[in-house]
Amino acid sequence: MPETKRVALFCSDLDGTLLGLPEASADFRRIWDSLGDDRPVLVYSTGRLVEDAMRVIRAGGLPEPDYYIGGVGTVIHDPGAGGVIPDYAEALSEDWDLAKAIEVVRSFSGIEEQPAEQQNECKSSWFWHDASPADLDRLRAALDEAGVTAQVIYSSARDLDVLPRRANKGNALRWICGKLGVPLDEAVVAGDTGNDSSMFQVEGVRGIVPANAEPELIEAVRDLDAFRARGECAAGIIEGLIHHGVFPQHRS
Ligand code: GLC
Repeated sequence: MPETKRVALFCSDLDGTLLGLPEASADFRRIWDSLGDDRPVLVYSTGRLVEDAMRVIRAGGLPEPDYYIGGVGTVIHDPGAGGVIPDYAEALSEDWDLAKAIEVVRSFSGIEEQPAEQQNECKSSWFWHDASPADLDRLRAALDEAGVTAQVIYSSARDLDVLPRRANKGNALRWICGKLGVPLDEAVVAGDTGNDSSMFQVEGVRGIVPANAEPELIEAVRDLDAFRARGECAAGIIEGLIHHGVFPQHRS
């Protein structure tokens, strides 16, 4: 039986979640568009920066969202209000020292910088293949030691994001819910990798995990309210939205 609790906002990751299986993405679009005006607010939350996210949603045929959360929660973009919300970015940059963070990461061997188009003033992203929890702890300790108040997020056994202390997808979601007056327990989130875990950890939020999710996310949501779908990517997200009562159970 689908859940009947109201869903006022749906916040989803893109790669490996709404994108990845083109036919399922097209199904998602079709069902979403059929919901009409009383549909939930739609937010995309991605590790990509906003321009890049806009490009992939168009290429993937996904519906336009009401908000974008870009760069792993470092940017909030409101297309309806003309773009990036400056207050949010300002709040993040307090006690953040990008140059120092980069210097510390560079002092580690085996970590390679991601291309310039993946970086912004609050997001320093790297490739670090198969880093262990102990490696990540060493990096956190080195950042602490250097007086950098940073947060280290590791995804897909490869992507390393070093961000200001408060920057993550979960806090960006809290910010949007606060601005819109949406109670957190009326939000449903979806994602497949480590950078999504902070969304599932927002108190009261319900989640959807597609079958292709990475082990780090499955581990992080073990004790949380997360629906584990059988389908991969958007096929799993459709199942989850049916479970949460957003999508109709029977469709043509
Ligand atoms: C996306 C971003 C990348 C980031 C990763 C994990 O792939 O493009 O910069 O490291 O997400 O958050």
